[in-house]
Amino acid sequence: MNLTQEQIDAYKRDGFLVLPELFSPSEVNILRAETERLRHVEADGIFREGEDDKAKTMFRMHEPDGPTYSSAYRALSRVPRSLGVAQQVLDDTLLYMHHCKVNMKPSIEGTVWHWHQDFGSWHLDGIAKPTMATMMVMLDEATELGGCLYMLPGSHTDGRFTPYYDESTAYKFWATPAAQVKARMAGAPDPVAIIGKPGTVAIFDCNTLHASGHNLSARDRWQIYLCYNLCANRPGDIEKPRPDYVRSRNWAPMDLLEDDAILAGERLAAE
Ligand code: SIN
Ligand code: MN
Repeated sequence: MNLTQEQIDAYKRDGFLVLPELFSPSEVNILRAETERLRHVEADGIFREGEDDKAKTMFRMHEPDGPTYSSAYRALSRVPRSLGVAQQVLDDTLLYMHHCKVNMKPSIEGTVWHWHQDFGSWHLDGIAKPTMATMMVMLDEATELGGCLYMLPGSHTDGRFTPYYDESTAYKFWATPAAQVKARMAGAPDPVAIIGKPGTVAIFDCNTLHASGHNLSARDRWQIYLCYNLCANRPGDIEKPRPDYVRSRNWAPMDLLEDDAILAGERLAAE
């Protein structure tokens, strides 16, 4: 899949690009079924919250050597519509995946993700340069009521802000201090709600400020995040690295698969 020059320019200008319904309902159904299956696995890299003990965040579904593996997720991470698009926005063919996660923000209970830049924490993983991009894939319709993502257009152009460790939410992570977010917002275009039908994708720069709100709707909000980095920008050694489900140690370049790989895997399994 080839992005137009206009799309590449928009990505560079805004720090994100939305591609509506890039994945088909059949592909989304396969990924949803796999996500539901993996929720029952017990493994590092699966986080449960709340009283129902259901998984809310899971990592590392794309690597064959772990308990959270799904061939559909592996295919998702390597088809031209994902890996090929990442190669184009990052202008490099040699990419690996820093991590892959799915966030299942539950109805009513699922809470805010404060404003942050993904490179806020990835730089602390030992990664030197912000030559990274995240592709978010909607596994159901994303709405404002349901706690969709918001992007602050152009916020990647100022580079990385020093993050603080926010412990106010169940998952705890490196967020951007409110004072810096407010200063960045002053005079900037309004944040954009990343809403869309299932299968819609948003790819964004690792320094783009983004956040999401409470899920006040009656439906859970499921979204996949595929985080690509240049092989040449792999992390340097650091003390106490995070586990490899979140800071991959597989720095081999990813190969493109055929564009129907998600559906082909399912056909093969059915034979
Ligand atoms: C993230 O930015 O890493 C997750 C945000 C969300 O799922 O709402
Ligand atoms: Mn993020």
